[in-house]
Amino acid sequence: MQIISGTVVAEKVLEECRRDIAALAALGKKPGLAVVLVGDDPASRAYVRSKDKKCRDLGLHSVKLELPVTTTQAELLAHVEALNQDPTIHGILVQSPPPPHIDEAAIVRAIDPAKDVDGFHPVNVAKLALEDPTGFVPCTPLGCQRLLIEAGIETKGANAVVVGRSMIVGKPMALLLMAKGPGGDATVTVAHSRTRDLPAITRQADIIIAAIGRPHFITAEHVKEGAVVIDVGINRVEAPGTEKGYKLVGDVAYDEVAPKCRAITPVPGGVGPMTIAMLMANTIKACQQARSEERR
Ligand code: GUN
Repeated sequence: MQIISGTVVAEKVLEECRRDIAALAALGKKPGLAVVLVGDDPASRAYVRSKDKKCRDLGLHSVKLELPVTTTQAELLAHVEALNQDPTIHGILVQSPPPPHIDEAAIVRAIDPAKDVDGFHPVNVAKLALEDPTGFVPCTPLGCQRLLIEAGIETKGANAVVVGRSMIVGKPMALLLMAKGPGGDATVTVAHSRTRDLPAITRQADIIIAAIGRPHFITAEHVKEGAVVIDVGINRVEAPGTEKGYKLVGDVAYDEVAPKCRAITPVPGGVGPMTIAMLMANTIKACQQARSEERR
């Protein structure tokens, strides 16, 4: 059984980022990322902080906007518009989910698609479906695909089952796995909360992508012998007696599933570090594409 280390693969991606950042610096360019958080959800705050920190570690320009929960739709739109116009900012990310009074779809549509490093804007969703390489692909599924490639997992012709149909992970993951080329060419099934007899479906899978958002949901009965399991879940569960009072667990019941697997990602140290590395890579790509746009 192979444990696929996201920490190791993310470091490789970040090394490529450092090389690209140096090449841009030689041209007088520095990629800039703006991360916007509305409200004070503790998990979202932690994600936003770690994105900001990673930017600074790499020497990227980073702007972190932490807005109060009382921020109105119009105020948030004004912030997005200002970032769209800011030439030092190449990537804009509004942390999801926003508070309930915010119309998230309208905010996403307001982001300049050329700066939408999350890949959530309709233009980028369409580019992914069209296999247009100039688009931005959501960071988490892009990181999962990279993990499969780096771990030497053959996706071509494989039965891949994606469990979860979110806009952030499930849907783009399915599109990536069915696209032509490395990390693609799979036969893809998308299962979700309304799927009948889920274990019967996932037991057909050579590759399972677990993106349900429920702790330890995928158990041994869901997995065939020799499957590859990618665990996207980051769930906070109570852990009395620990310093923080909680711990992070995946969507996969790791202890019972891992012994059946050919390969599996751990939580933490699996998909998590990849998401942030791919965000850095997307921000660099946005800067590179902005440059070639200028030269046209
Ligand atoms: N919330 C959970 N994952 C993500 C992500 O990749 N991007 C944004 N903007 N919000 C998220």
